[in-house]
Amino acid sequence: MQKPPGTPPDDAVDSEMVRYYAARADEYDDWYMRRARYSHGRAHDEAWRRDLGVAAGWLANRPFEGRIVELAAGTGWWSPLLAAKGQLTLYDAAPEPLVKARLRPAAAGLKAEMGIRDAWAEPDSAVEGLFAGFWVSHIDRARLDEWLTLAARWLAPGGLLALIDSCQDPESGARNDRPPGDDIPVRLLDDGTSFRIRKVFYEPAELEASLERAGFDQIEVTKTEHFFLVASARRR
Ligand SMILES: C[S@@+](CC[C@H](N)C(=O)[O-])C[C@H]1O[C@@H](n2cnc3c(N)ncnc32)[C@H](O)[C@@H]1O
Repeated sequence: MQKPPGTPPDDAVDSEMVRYYAARADEYDDWYMRRARYSHGRAHDEAWRRDLGVAAGWLANRPFEGRIVELAAGTGWWSPLLAAKGQLTLYDAAPEPLVKARLRPAAAGLKAEMGIRDAWAEPDSAVEGLFAGFWVSHIDRARLDEWLTLAARWLAPGGLLALIDSCQDPESGARNDRPPGDDIPVRLLDDGTSFRIRKVFYEPAELEASLERAGFDQIEVTKTEHFFLVASARRR
């Protein structure tokens, strides 16, 4: 079934997850910066920064060109790297993180278009590049093939897909995160408000297999030392 771009998620957990990220927009970058609840002590924080640098270097080296779409872009942490390579349009289901994202390419002297869009909405054009950071881990295992097939439909033949996502590591999230139980953990905000989200830690082999079924080749999926999964593939 095709969804128009602004359609809110129809699953209760998926829509709670959008509300979570909307409410978390002002504190989201604390996770990247290892600030406040996300600091795990000097050694872990240094390991995080090293891995983050590796992931950023990896993304900067992807041969993106032409039109690039970024889905579930959040506060736009990765957007300047993409905007430096082509004509970037970035989307998220929630307006609140996009308020932050708007500032990032501009601060780097770069341009990007942006808008509200559900990452499950049917593409309305075919582009040369597609990126999503920390999005596939929010996809139910039963729907991963479906979303990657949609990702393939975003791309012209030969188009490049790149993904950065989470590996399961106890030092990745907030210090007061509850221990992982299933794929629908509860996450807290600084003020103690709680939300259910979907979080699935994909192993490289299962992501590779799903990418192949979805119509990609030149598939490369690797992990950084501790925290991140990086994947790239070309639409057949
Ligand atoms: C973990 S954050 C990742 C943000 C950013 N890509 C990054 O790498 O920092 C997940 C993002 O997905 C967005 N999101 C959640 N459900 C969505 C949906 N159905 N469609 C589009 N975006 C969604 C949230 O609003 C949030 O900004």
